[in-house]
Amino acid sequence: MEFKNEIGKLQRLVSASSAGISRRQAVLETLIIKPNDHIIDIGCGAGDLLIHLAKAVDNDGHIYGLDPSKDQITNANVKCAEFQNITFLKSTADKIDLPDKTCNLATSTQTFEYIKNVDDALMETRRILKSGSSFVNISVLWDYFRFYGAEKKLNEKIHDAFKAHCSHQMLPMELPGKLSNLGFTNIKNKSLSFVITHRDQNSPAKYAEDVIAFFVKLQGISETEVNDWKEQINHAEKEGRFGFTSFPVLTEAFLNKI
Ligand SMILES: C[S@@+](CC[C@H](N)C(=O)[O-])C[C@H]1O[C@@H](n2cnc3c(N)ncnc32)[C@H](O)[C@@H]1O
Repeated sequence: MEFKNEIGKLQRLVSASSAGISRRQAVLETLIIKPNDHIIDIGCGAGDLLIHLAKAVDNDGHIYGLDPSKDQITNANVKCAEFQNITFLKSTADKIDLPDKTCNLATSTQTFEYIKNVDDALMETRRILKSGSSFVNISVLWDYFRFYGAEKKLNEKIHDAFKAHCSHQMLPMELPGKLSNLGFTNIKNKSLSFVITHRDQNSPAKYAEDVIAFFVKLQGISETEVNDWKEQINHAEKEGRFGFTSFPVLTEAFLNKI
């Protein structure tokens, strides 16, 4: 899935919603930031986390925001305009334009699961980290990213078509092994799962519905079926039998000091 135009806009709305806020909070609570840290956010999107990272370091520290999407980098540049200590890198995570051992913290939110050559991207992340660094990643267990309330067969069809939106449906299950192979230790997982049974105007489940609807039409699901699905879940919500579940996982890993 490419994060530009309509999908880029929806992604930025998700990032501004309670789901985005709680993920940033979880990352900031986990990273132990020192004023002189050099930190990279891989797949920085519209830069919502970069602002907090930039405030946490002083003139000896520096922040790098990496994203291949022109749309996202443009939005991030506007959002982060007042910060002089952020450098943007417009590239994919498997080719980071930084020397070896530049950073001592790396973080990424809902990005690695979209990267087909995820092993190359993790190796590249490892390359730019100093010994003693830590890496904090959030990825979603997409099998649990589900709406409830629509007719079962149609609901399955829509969710099945949505699977093509990312390369790795269950990355958090594979990440500990991949990180361990790269020399990371003390690998810990933490669930950030949530359930929504009623949506307000800024609910991540509102934008998630729009993202799914937009994407599955590109996969050949008809406009009529998508509209029926949306109507059915809206009806279920009015009747108090609606649900949306999401299961992001925060993975923390360390590189031993050598
Ligand atoms: C779901 S968004 C998350 C953005 C941000 N981390 C957030 O939480 O709001 C995924 C981001 O990953 C970026 N992305 C996609 N493929 C990538 C790749 N190969 N390397 C690095 N970033 C990538 C997209 O452009 C997009 O901005």
